[in-house]
Amino acid sequence: MINKRFSWAAFALSIAVSVNSFAQQSTAFVVKANQPVTEIQPTMWGLFFEDINMGGDGGVYAELVKNRSFEFDTPMMGWKEIKEGGAEGSVLVYNIGEKNPANRRYARVKVKSDNGRYGISNEGFRGMGVKEGKQYDFSVMARQQNGSNFTLTLELVNESGQKIGTATVTPEGTEWKKYTASFTASATEPKATLNLWTKGKGEIDIDMVSLFPKETWKGRPGGLRADMIQLLADMNPGFLRFPGGCIVEGRTLDERYEWKKTIGPVEDRDLIVNRWNTEFDHRLTPDYYQSFGLGFYEYFLTAEDIGAEPIPILNAGMACQFNTGEVVPMDQLEPYIQDALDLIEFANGPADSEWGKKRAEMGHPKPFNMKYLGVGNEQWGEQYIERFDAFEKVLKEKHPEITLVTTTGPFPAGDRFDYLNKELRDRNVELIDEHYYNTPEWFQQNATRYDSYDRNGPKIFAGEYAAQSVAIASPDNKNNWLTAMSEAAFMTGLERNAEVVVMASYAPLFAHAEGWQWTPDMIWVDNLKAQGTPNYYVQKLFSTNAGTHVVPMLLDNKAVTGQDKLFASAVIDKKTNEVILKIVNTSDKAQSKEVLLEGVKKPGRKGTVTVLKSDNLDAMNTLDKPAQIVPVEQPLKVRGNKLNLDLAPYSVSVVRVKMS
Ligand code: AHR
Repeated sequence: MINKRFSWAAFALSIAVSVNSFAQQSTAFVVKANQPVTEIQPTMWGLFFEDINMGGDGGVYAELVKNRSFEFDTPMMGWKEIKEGGAEGSVLVYNIGEKNPANRRYARVKVKSDNGRYGISNEGFRGMGVKEGKQYDFSVMARQQNGSNFTLTLELVNESGQKIGTATVTPEGTEWKKYTASFTASATEPKATLNLWTKGKGEIDIDMVSLFPKETWKGRPGGLRADMIQLLADMNPGFLRFPGGCIVEGRTLDERYEWKKTIGPVEDRDLIVNRWNTEFDHRLTPDYYQSFGLGFYEYFLTAEDIGAEPIPILNAGMACQFNTGEVVPMDQLEPYIQDALDLIEFANGPADSEWGKKRAEMGHPKPFNMKYLGVGNEQWGEQYIERFDAFEKVLKEKHPEITLVTTTGPFPAGDRFDYLNKELRDRNVELIDEHYYNTPEWFQQNATRYDSYDRNGPKIFAGEYAAQSVAIASPDNKNNWLTAMSEAAFMTGLERNAEVVVMASYAPLFAHAEGWQWTPDMIWVDNLKAQGTPNYYVQKLFSTNAGTHVVPMLLDNKAVTGQDKLFASAVIDKKTNEVILKIVNTSDKAQSKEVLLEGVKKPGRKGTVTVLKSDNLDAMNTLDKPAQIVPVEQPLKVRGNKLNLDLAPYSVSVVRVKMS
């Protein structure tokens, strides 16, 4: 327990009774480093992941073949027939329906003559990115039809049709088997195509055509893009929320996210349409599906890898209310609740329990130690409360150790918010998820949002937020410096109120430069590169300087919430024995400020100041110029208990000073 010697309420009172004294007070920042206000939860700064913007399939899931098992509603989407030298053949998609509901379709290639060569070609996700000198692993499920004797040759070709990699497999027999081969790419190419040529005559069945880089995150076969996960790991995130987002809800209940369909062998994971594929007329991506190669096991594993608490969010028996808003009748809600119970067993149960066994079989006998579970994403209305109550009753009875995340819907104010906020607070729920997509000005103005929140009520999960340079869901939104700086100003308010706010995450996380639907996004990628936006660097500055306890940082005896267009917060880190300040100068003027470190016995004589800035509020990082706005660290002199800060116009500064 910490000793709460400082109280914001007492300060407010002292301000009220001594208004006249303000004018005489110093304009220095005063940091009361020996007066911790509250602990900062290790979960404070985390990540929100959703497969939107081709951030999952086509993005972080490193599979290069689109529609690898011919399961898209248009089964040959992404594929085309190829032939040369007078070859004669055909491709027919077979659908075996309920005989294998998770993987119904395969392609039968029929070749009529020995002339030339015949095959099928896959375009990848906006092409396939390959790098010179790197190894690529190809695999395919195949079976020969009676009397056939095909070899299958994969050729990776660049945009001009030149071969940059090749491998051959020789399927044997009439039973399905997996065949693998590897090759090294001879050139770097952002938009390669995979040609799969047959040699022989007759008929061959093909399924699960796959190509992965060997170099994935932690070298896991069939794994995730290492460059993208590294950017997340670099943030030292407190949690990983998954799998969304509206994707949890689905456009209809039939299209909701069902975690059980996302585990086990990849060929048994039941693909569904991605609800973002035709959500926006201005950014149609009809070839966007969820293969679930990145499924719940992979999410848990990734969270573990990067030291983040896993926070799965489950469907509450409600489809997306921006779409159909379908709900499951209350007397049919039980399977949804059972899914939650089974998920707890999958994550935390012993390796010999029904669902724990599935985790163990996938390679993780030890539990994942999941502590949080979300019920619903962005719901509203009585229908949510009714369903949440049913979930809570069972989950709390059977698993009181799991903290439940509730939702107040898509907006941080208004009738829907007020209704759920009241209902959830009346129930004294543990954690309320609030979302804000709003203007940069809103973010600056709301740095004080949580100052008035009940310290004894539910804790807040700021589960999705991002400043919108134009408007919510506008395709013209930009990840510019104004949005990032405004988020930083807002985040000083989150940090100052860490007694109430215990988790926060920017959203969405990833976007593919050619496959996106929603902007702004924290990290942009193409087939070869990944780039942090200024918003990413703001998040990273906060999460890698999180500290352990909030301490007061005052300007003229008040929290720094916009005076002189400055926003600031301070923490101490009891593990490293440092005081850490975050100061956002949103004005167009440089400001020099003295900082008085009160209660620090022997401050180090040198500290550091890390600055993120731009004098252009429209400035952005791009894939070609990724380092326009990146943090720069410099040494900082400390004189006794004082230091001077030169705050550049439009800047975010993080100061670290040893306390002894
Ligand atoms: O982050 C994009 C979307 O915004 C999420 O899916 C949803 O929860 C919110 O409306």
